[in-house]
Amino acid sequence: MFKIQTLNNISVNGLERLPRDRFEIASEMAKPDAILVRSADMHKLDIPTSVKAIGRAGAGTNNIPIAAMSKRGVPVFNAPGANANAVKELVLSAMLLTARNIPAALDFVKKLDGDDKAMHEAVEAGKKKFVGFELPSRTLGVIGLGAIGVKVANAALELGMEVWGYDPAMTVQNAWQLNSGVRQALSVDDLLSKSQFVSLHVPLLDATRGLINADRIKLMKKQAVVLNFARAPIVDEQAVIEALDAGRMHAYACDFPSTALQGHPRVLATPHLGASTSEAEDNCAVMVADQIREFLELGTIRNS
Ligand code: MLT
Repeated sequence: MFKIQTLNNISVNGLERLPRDRFEIASEMAKPDAILVRSADMHKLDIPTSVKAIGRAGAGTNNIPIAAMSKRGVPVFNAPGANANAVKELVLSAMLLTARNIPAALDFVKKLDGDDKAMHEAVEAGKKKFVGFELPSRTLGVIGLGAIGVKVANAALELGMEVWGYDPAMTVQNAWQLNSGVRQALSVDDLLSKSQFVSLHVPLLDATRGLINADRIKLMKKQAVVLNFARAPIVDEQAVIEALDAGRMHAYACDFPSTALQGHPRVLATPHLGASTSEAEDNCAVMVADQIREFLELGTIRNS
């Protein structure tokens, strides 16, 4: 019998991949053989020496102490691509919402009072400040051409945008399933200088921390929109706030609320919802549960 500890929010469909006659599953247990985790920060935990494998039900692995686990010979399995469609849909929503000033417009409507006639008059007087723009007139730069970046780039092309891609590890020709209409940027700076929208799809590494900073925001076209549905520290929030306040940036859309961004009228922040669809939660949990099962029972490593 293998013992599996689940740390948080692992979908039931994923757990069903671990037959109960061979796997005991609990959120608290002594000497687990494996841990299944979603977003809990495992850097702060004392990971028992009994643990032989870790399954991260998501793409990013920055919440797992990978180096320490490698030293122990513990593989970390993740679920690349399993939530890519969910993240893509949230990024597209954020592009459309910011282009049409919807967050501010909703706020305006919420604050309307009086009777229908008064509301109608306020709408007629106030709607001018919410005039937006259409996506085909804008350029999108996608940094990171893994599963999510590729889906975002392809979808933006279908919406009629001009799309540029950059990934330090591959060319646009080599990116898996990327539409051939996506153009190759020569560097991050080159991509930014061509883009009004930039969408970030890179992991959090030393090399990507603060990737979007004050100097780089200045390279972007006027009325820039930065979309960060990857990890908060990839963007320098202070630089973003200054650019928003100076009118250089039109909006910042991200999946990570913070005290610095809180209440800013040009920030659209969601509470780490990128992978929060029932489909993505199932896909991620099923993918890692299968990998953990195969590793514990057969010693096979499919992806780590
Ligand atoms: C990911 O890395 O794929 C996401 O952070 C997953 C999640 O929201 O749990």
